[in-house]
Amino acid sequence: MTIIENRPVASPLSRPIERRSRPRTYAMCSPEHFDVTYAINPWMRPGVAVDACRADRQWQVLHETYRSLGHRVQVLDPLPGQPDMVFAANGALVVGGRAYGARFRHPERQAEAEAHAAWLRSMGVDVVRPEHTNEGEGDFLVLGAMILAGTGFRTDLQAHVEAARVLDRPVVSLHLVDPRFYHLDVALGVLDDGRGDSPADIVYAPDAFTPHSQRTLAELFPDALRCSLEDALDFGLNLVSDGRNVVLPSAAVRLASALEQRGYRPVPVDLSELLKGGGSVKCCTMEWHA
Ligand code: ARG
Repeated sequence: MTIIENRPVASPLSRPIERRSRPRTYAMCSPEHFDVTYAINPWMRPGVAVDACRADRQWQVLHETYRSLGHRVQVLDPLPGQPDMVFAANGALVVGGRAYGARFRHPERQAEAEAHAAWLRSMGVDVVRPEHTNEGEGDFLVLGAMILAGTGFRTDLQAHVEAARVLDRPVVSLHLVDPRFYHLDVALGVLDDGRGDSPADIVYAPDAFTPHSQRTLAELFPDALRCSLEDALDFGLNLVSDGRNVVLPSAAVRLASALEQRGYRPVPVDLSELLKGGGSVKCCTMEWHA
């Protein structure tokens, strides 16, 4: 990965920021019915052979990785006939015990929203049914001070306004321009949500955004780590961080070393089988934000 900008996190005289992890609660959905039977993003090739055992093994490793890092993982049952349901991030946006439900863009995935909502309700989460099209955490990334929201391919701009009202949090809209980065979580990764002692920290591919959104990001996060579009194509930005440990696709070796220099601990996992559906680490993981 070519890092366009990698400003030091501390002056040579001071010590680098000590990254601290915070225990998280994640939701995942098994890849039991994972397949590529339709194409709703440029990564999907219907008819490509999917190795179900391999997909399951890779998913189990991700699940075990979170548990070994001390996180809680809730697992929901997949629906037969919903081959993309393994990408649990899209099922809702859960913040402060309340969920803003999903409403999928494509008919192929629409049944997933109700399955997530019913499951979340059974877990005691208050689920608000959305009026506007939105794909949950695929297009909403939560920081302590704000929610970053993507639009352009899947989630409607009106859903940003709706989410802000439902969750009572400020939402910053970001416009995506490249179909390969059809969700915000493939163009931008949250490294530190800023809820602890350290400032919020993100990594993103500026070229995936309109010039206006690039300026918004530069203004809000002047010290963010940036990478080129080419380098984001290995799905490295589709990561899950607990503030210290950054679980990311193993192909993203250059990003991993840039993260290490920034004081994080990269934890590479191979999810290459799931990449056939156009998703990786973050797509498979919905966080329940406090
Ligand atoms: N095949 C799925 C789709 O196109 C992949 C979803 C990936 N999820 C994500 N959070 N980016 O909808």
